[in-house]
Amino acid sequence: MQLDKIQSLDQQYFMPVFGNRTPVAFTHGKGMTLYATDGVAYQDFLGGIAVTALGHSHPVFTQALKNQLDQLLHTSSLYYIENQAALAQALVQCSCADRIFFANSGAEANEGAIKLARIHASKQGFTHKYEIITLVDSFHGRTMTTVAATGQEKYQKPYAPLTPGFIHVPINDLQALERAMSDNTCAVMIECIQGESGVQPVDQHYIHAVVALCKKHNAHFVVDEIQTGMGRTGKLFAYEHFGVEPDIFTLAKALGNGIPIGAVCAKEFVAQSFGLGDHGSTFGGNAFATCAGLAVLDILKNEDLVKNAQVMGEYFMQRLLSANLTKVAQVRGKGLMIGIQLTEPSAVQVKNALFEKGFLVGSVGTNVIRCLPPLIITQADIDAFVDAFTKIIEE
Ligand SMILES: Cc1ncc(COP(=O)(O)O)c(C=O)c1O
Repeated sequence: MQLDKIQSLDQQYFMPVFGNRTPVAFTHGKGMTLYATDGVAYQDFLGGIAVTALGHSHPVFTQALKNQLDQLLHTSSLYYIENQAALAQALVQCSCADRIFFANSGAEANEGAIKLARIHASKQGFTHKYEIITLVDSFHGRTMTTVAATGQEKYQKPYAPLTPGFIHVPINDLQALERAMSDNTCAVMIECIQGESGVQPVDQHYIHAVVALCKKHNAHFVVDEIQTGMGRTGKLFAYEHFGVEPDIFTLAKALGNGIPIGAVCAKEFVAQSFGLGDHGSTFGGNAFATCAGLAVLDILKNEDLVKNAQVMGEYFMQRLLSANLTKVAQVRGKGLMIGIQLTEPSAVQVKNALFEKGFLVGSVGTNVIRCLPPLIITQADIDAFVDAFTKIIEE
């Protein structure tokens, strides 16, 4: 189908929530490259917003899915599911969690984490202990409760009244956190690097203070790893950079490399609070989705892609910094989660100019370009991007 036909169908039949789509539709992809309906090739520096960590049409991943398609898609959670059990085991073996529950998306994984934190408190008899503290400018999803958790009014306003019990405090402001915490605090939930608000990292000492305050108030330390997880930041999970272990963390996005899956990962003492019938999902962790998760973990390991994310991330950052671009105010992030803050022109203008030159990136707010490329990226890919970016910025 031609782009104009797709656009007219979209305008007539799809709910108009994505108003500012880039005028392109893709037919197929290979590695770092996406091909549009008119045959034009684009280098994917956004990775479907941190999803396609293995790049497009990874042959081993594709073969694993094809094999699974031939065998079994879905049976329901009324029966045991081999891939589900195996992926839960694999995630436990590579993380600080002891048990896993599978969902279908990031928001749903966060819902599960919030429910788990609350049910743990209520099963201990602390019925007043339901407050959850999150950060201003955080992003935790679009369901009613995760919108309440998200510290951005623009996502919340039209949906009031929201799920009660959420308090938002400014990032890296320890005093504000201390003031907000009490014996009613059930959990503090953070992203180690806030993605949707322009790649804003949390300070090392702040995270350690969060952990200490959680201990003091008998509250759970919850980390949303939906964007940062699965190697994105140069460690399998971003919490590893900080030398801390969350009681609960959540995954989605790259866990399925494009197949919808989310995960609630928790330490035993809290995971045990989900008893018989306390939570559930029809699709969550079905044979197909968990096949994708198993293949992702295997490929990350066999191709040393987490290390590649670290090495290429450092190279990318260093190339951007050494270009000494006067219109670049700051380059921040970790691994292959990089935000480039501009003084001028606007991020949307630069994103559009990069698109014209065959590069896909994201823009956040008015002035941040966000890069979340597949973890298979090479130096040559980065060089080509930085050269194009430099020309655009200097023009
Ligand atoms: C940190 C974080 N949490 C949660 C979500 C929500 O995930 P989903 O869109 O899969 O529901 C996102 C999505 O961008 C995210 O970046």
